[in-house]
Amino acid sequence: MEINKNIEDDGVIFMSIKDKNTESAQVENSDAEKKDVTILAIESSCDETAVAVVRNGREVLSNIISSQIALHTVYGGVVPEIASRKHVEKINGCIRAALSEAKLTFKDIDAVAVTYGPGLVGALLVGVSEAKAISFATGKPLIGVHHIEGHISANFIENKDLEPPFVCLVVSGGHSHLVVVKDYGEYEIIGQTRDDAAGEAFDKVARAIGLGYPGGPKIDKAAREGNPDAFTFPQAKIPDAEYDFSFSGLKSSVLNYINQAKMQGNELNQADVAASFQKAVVEVLAGHAIKACKEYGYDKLAIAGGVASNSALRELMEKECAANGIKFYRPSPVLCTDNAAMIGAAAYYEYIKGVRFGLDMNAVPNLPLGDRERRFHGRG
Ligand code: KG4
Ligand code: ZN
Repeated sequence: MEINKNIEDDGVIFMSIKDKNTESAQVENSDAEKKDVTILAIESSCDETAVAVVRNGREVLSNIISSQIALHTVYGGVVPEIASRKHVEKINGCIRAALSEAKLTFKDIDAVAVTYGPGLVGALLVGVSEAKAISFATGKPLIGVHHIEGHISANFIENKDLEPPFVCLVVSGGHSHLVVVKDYGEYEIIGQTRDDAAGEAFDKVARAIGLGYPGGPKIDKAAREGNPDAFTFPQAKIPDAEYDFSFSGLKSSVLNYINQAKMQGNELNQADVAASFQKAVVEVLAGHAIKACKEYGYDKLAIAGGVASNSALRELMEKECAANGIKFYRPSPVLCTDNAAMIGAAAYYEYIKGVRFGLDMNAVPNLPLGDRERRFHGRG
């Protein structure tokens, strides 16, 4: 992946992501009768305004991300009001850039897809309103996409051979789910977090040890200099739900250690705490995922979501999958964090099933995974 970055006057980072192998990565359309399906996809559920053009679910013609991360860093987390306002300012420019890089116009697009939940309601509404306006003005069908289904579908982009069924570990700032992807768009949740999401735990611990926001990438980096065996932090097991996760005990244990160290006047070794905390998280995540593959009888395991770009998690999953005869799939780090290419990938499989949304589509901030309200309208 090649990333062209430009920092704008307001601090927003404009990125255009290109797959250097795009030419060779083109998806063969084996059925000559079958028409290519080109989808314009929009994602604005949190602090990235993202627009992509995706062909046949797996070929990314353009992938634009306008990241507000620098604007939120000063507040130690995402400020929803700032996020919504920036989305409004940036979204039209991102759409223009995505179409222009794909060398297409609205006329060439078969459908408009957008994340309609879960996420910050004001942020989601910007993308949803934009997608509805484009659909209304061009007469192109509208497809709503679940953000987490998008994350899972990011795996289809670089792994042309990946097809359901497979197990996917979804770990982001708001979600930690262990899912069986039974078919395209069909999910069975076999485990989820009882309290904090994995990314949330990374963010909170990073703040506590003074690394700041965004916590995940900072812990990942600091941990490389630290000793993962310096401390043994607890790895929670939930007796009646062996695939569920709980990170609050681990987080409290790290906070207790930090407070004790402060009280005793001991210097805090950030790198050792980061590495030991990270080890506890990734061992639980990988352990549950491998166990699920073995017990449910799947030999393909994918990871998705922001935390899936964690280097220790990727390394451990790789090792454990190899040891257990499981094929391991992971998106490039830039496709793990929020982007619209993944939304275009998920939308394609909805499109070919005939899923269409009406212009009454609304943002659903707590939209549950795999339990969507699917609406059909007649503008196929
Ligand atoms: O998927 P994502 O971009 O947004 C949500 O849908 O939540 O995930 C963001 C989360 C944040 O909590 C961030 O700290 C975490 O992913 N994250 C990481 C890493 N990169 C991002 N966590 C651990 N290691 C990383 N390298
Ligand atoms: Zn996300």
